[in-house]
Amino acid sequence: KTIDDLGDLRGKRVLVRSDLNVPLDGTTITDDGRVRAAVPTIRRLVDAGARVVVIAHLGRPKGAPEGKYSLAPVAARLGELLGTPVRLAEDVVGTSARETVAGLTDGEVALLENIRFDPRETSKVDAERSSLADDLAQLADAYVSDGFGVVHRKQASVYDIAKKLPSAVGGLVLSEVEALRRATEKPERPYAVVLGGSKVSDKLGVISNLLGKADRLLIGGGMVFTFLAAQGHPVGKSLLEEDQVETVKGYLAAAQAKGVEIVLPTDIVVADSFAADSPHDVVAADSIPAGRIGLDIGPESAELFRSKLLDARTIVWNGPMGVFEFPAFAAGTRAVAQALVDAGAQGAFSIVGGGDSAAAVRLLDFDEAAFGHISTGGGASLEFLEGKTLPGVAVLSSGRARD
Ligand code: 3PG
Repeated sequence: KTIDDLGDLRGKRVLVRSDLNVPLDGTTITDDGRVRAAVPTIRRLVDAGARVVVIAHLGRPKGAPEGKYSLAPVAARLGELLGTPVRLAEDVVGTSARETVAGLTDGEVALLENIRFDPRETSKVDAERSSLADDLAQLADAYVSDGFGVVHRKQASVYDIAKKLPSAVGGLVLSEVEALRRATEKPERPYAVVLGGSKVSDKLGVISNLLGKADRLLIGGGMVFTFLAAQGHPVGKSLLEEDQVETVKGYLAAAQAKGVEIVLPTDIVVADSFAADSPHDVVAADSIPAGRIGLDIGPESAELFRSKLLDARTIVWNGPMGVFEFPAFAAGTRAVAQALVDAGAQGAFSIVGGGDSAAAVRLLDFDEAAFGHISTGGGASLEFLEGKTLPGVAVLSSGRARD
């Protein structure tokens, strides 16, 4: 069901689960992409005259209020983007939340304090999550699931609540699922996937699943050193997951057997230490000197990756190629982003998935509209690519206790 199926919302209290989990430097939001992505659904409910109650989390507090995880900076930014103040309740479902919601007039917006301040949100015990969902349901007449970044979590405000109230899927979740399906179900070929980021262990499920589906797998970022080690090359002080080397050897063999091309960098930018101003050089990927640390793919690799992406028809990119936050080590990530833009201009469909690559695109000043789709989901988009069922999506398509 979509928001239209909820009927006339004027005067109705509508809970919206958004993913407003943004990076903060103190109280300053360093990338507001998720807040901006949440705005259209909230605005739509405001325009429909609903009394909108937004639920969100920030970070991973341990089930109790903690100042540094307060949603106050997010409420302020959301208000700016909506052009109307957002009232922040001081608690999740307590007196302040009840009073704040009761005080809303039609078209006004409130934000509950970080939902993870309540330990029941992330509880593994069904009855505990269900009891928080009951408390949330008391605050509203309907529920809209719009936090794509959290739909892979079986949590009270994502999963259990949908069983308690008339529920609908929001526009952001719809568009994310549509884009990811387009890329994964019947991809136009060649279908290339670029994977980066620091850990292979975060991407095991994705790699296994894609080995049967993608035509090319391009590997960069910190995880590449485990691939280089699996090929018997020295990696110096670079990030290495020794316990994954055997698994990666298995991937390399499986890729060969299945005719999937695995593209690894041929050169690496190595530095003396993990620092923005560390002295650095470009070396061959098979001979990283002892004592040096790889922080980006090299220029020859950037060209190689570009050539493997330019003739692709479908591209999924998850994870930066290097430490893009440091300008000296951003070139590989910039080159991949540019290749997606250029392939897109020639008709390819591209998806940027994952918090870090999406943040990189914005930090490096690319025009977001030049990409087919920029996902707001990190773990959620990865789990989608793994072919896993996403509880927050599945619960909306299955039967509910009450309509
Ligand atoms: C994310 O940042 O990927 C989402 O907001 C989910 O956060 P979590 O990994 O802490 O559940």
